[in-house]
Amino acid sequence: MRNLTESNLTDAVLSKLAGPQDVRFKQIMTSLIHHLHAFVREVEVTEEEWLEGIRFLTRTGHFCDDQRQEFILLSDTLGVSMLVDAINHRRPSAATENTVFGPFHVIGAPEFGNGDDITAGVPGEPTYVRGHVRSIDGRPIADAIIEVWQVRPDRLYDVQDPEAPGMQLRGKLKTDGEGRYAFWTIKPVSYSIPDDGPVGDMLKASGRHPWRPAHIHFMISAPGYETVVTHLFVEGDPYLNSDAVFGVKDSLVVDFQAHESGRAPDGKSVDKPFYTVHYDFRLTRA
Ligand SMILES: [Fe+2]
Repeated sequence: MRNLTESNLTDAVLSKLAGPQDVRFKQIMTSLIHHLHAFVREVEVTEEEWLEGIRFLTRTGHFCDDQRQEFILLSDTLGVSMLVDAINHRRPSAATENTVFGPFHVIGAPEFGNGDDITAGVPGEPTYVRGHVRSIDGRPIADAIIEVWQVRPDRLYDVQDPEAPGMQLRGKLKTDGEGRYAFWTIKPVSYSIPDDGPVGDMLKASGRHPWRPAHIHFMISAPGYETVVTHLFVEGDPYLNSDAVFGVKDSLVVDFQAHESGRAPDGKSVDKPFYTVHYDFRLTRA
């Protein structure tokens, strides 16, 4: 373990993994060291560049707190989150596709009944979302838990606003005996991911914008089925082809049907123009 050079250093580091260890840990570390050394060799990193990389990761850590997770943003914007998601959720084509989880889910969202309004009073364009949760062979799934969350019209999630009066535009529902779900919300808007930190600097340096197309987040779980973490995107959104976190899939882009004021499908009278969305989720067996 002396006189190490650029040609034998990688092997020397790998030889340190020879001890009795967890097999998976050893596999991950071996590959990580290989790829990291190969990267440094390939671009012949200068000392100043390496230090800049360390400064970048240090700043990324310093930007993290209970409300802000800059490392998830980094993973999302480098496409790693979607890659991990794709590898871990290979499903038959009949099943609802996953997409990125994102950093804005909150545990303990308020519970609602089917047909309730989840906006917590946030004004916007009323939107009635409804459909079924079924297995891929078409059987309705009763008592599936549906969590939904979305951004406010000011393009912030409630958790990004220290002045927010409480949880807004998020909730937990349960499908009825026939697998049906329904809720009132407002039409989602496209928004910029937080770009005032190191991830924003990386996007700017790459000539990329920080915008995500408008969407509603869903997480659907039921005993015996694989949990689906996904979004419904708004057809026609200008950012569908350039999502900053690479999350858009055609099967998740839905038509927000516009209606004049009047009677909604649930019989409610709406005194201004509104939208309806119909979407059926299909879950695979766990
Ligand atoms: Fe989002």
